[in-house]
Amino acid sequence: MIQMNEISREFAQGNFSRRVKVQTKDETGQLAVNFNAMADSLEKLEEMRRSFVANVSHELRSPLTSIMGYVQGVLDNTIKPDERDKYLKISLSEAQRLSKLIDELLDLSQIESGQFSLNMVVFDINEQIRRSIISYEERINQKNIDVEVDFEDEYCWVEADVDRIQQVVLNLIDNAIKYNRENGKLTIRTWKRRDKAYIKIQDRGPGIPKEDIVHIWERFYQVDKSRSSKNEGRGLGLSIVKKIIEQHEQNIWVNSRLGEGTAFIFSLKSARRPERNR
Ligand SMILES: Nc1ncnc2c1ncn2[C@@H]1O[C@H](COP(=O)(O)OP(=O)(O)OP(=O)(O)O)[C@@H](O)[C@H]1O
Ligand SMILES: [Mg+2]
Repeated sequence: MIQMNEISREFAQGNFSRRVKVQTKDETGQLAVNFNAMADSLEKLEEMRRSFVANVSHELRSPLTSIMGYVQGVLDNTIKPDERDKYLKISLSEAQRLSKLIDELLDLSQIESGQFSLNMVVFDINEQIRRSIISYEERINQKNIDVEVDFEDEYCWVEADVDRIQQVVLNLIDNAIKYNRENGKLTIRTWKRRDKAYIKIQDRGPGIPKEDIVHIWERFYQVDKSRSSKNEGRGLGLSIVKKIIEQHEQNIWVNSRLGEGTAFIFSLKSARRPERNR
């Protein structure tokens, strides 16, 4: 008991490495076992926090370093006048990347701190999907991706936070375009079963290796940093998606075959068509 007291004081200082010796099988012994288990999870959490901060600092520093370099180069003329535009454009896109990253980090911290309450409304997710596809039209055309929309019904009414689900849909379609092959295919289906609606977003990309599947939901995880879009993307999209779906108390699944493609399926609470739309 004295030992436990002493060690818990160390925990309060942020040092989670020590454990108590379990000597008896009675209640005190059980308490010691639980105490150590708690210490394990505190230590793990602290480690996650540290690596998160390290990752964030790294991700913020690299675009900033290149922006500073280019601006400096323009100012001191190491970058010749006819090359200025090119480097200013790179600087702008780096700045945009930074801004997107900061938005995503704010989203994540807001969602995680539980400060965010869901604003549940009834809406038609088919319409939301159609609009999302339109917003990506340019990239879809650039890659010559064939989009197939297969809705079980004309409308698919769901009850959810419309803005948050918009983020989910955009992130999943973004991935399905980014990782699709040239002349690939993007298939989006919605259907209803019992009290749920299901949304499936499928691509013909490279697929995700089995050993990576469990990790794709982690912040900053990218299967292959060199393959994953050298410049855009930080491995945050799916962690945000997962958090939003969890907050809705719904599920998301991934189905992937190497060399064939990947499908993400998530569920939402089905709703009846609202009065004003009848
Ligand atoms: N549809 C997909 N096909 C193949 N791999 C995918 C697919 N979606 C995600 N991945 C893999 O999972 C990783 C994590 O995805 P996530 O959306 O979180 O990050 P990202 O797309 O790299 O960056 P961000 O979403 O922050 O712009 C990706 O880097 C990629 O390796
Ligand atoms: Mg993504």
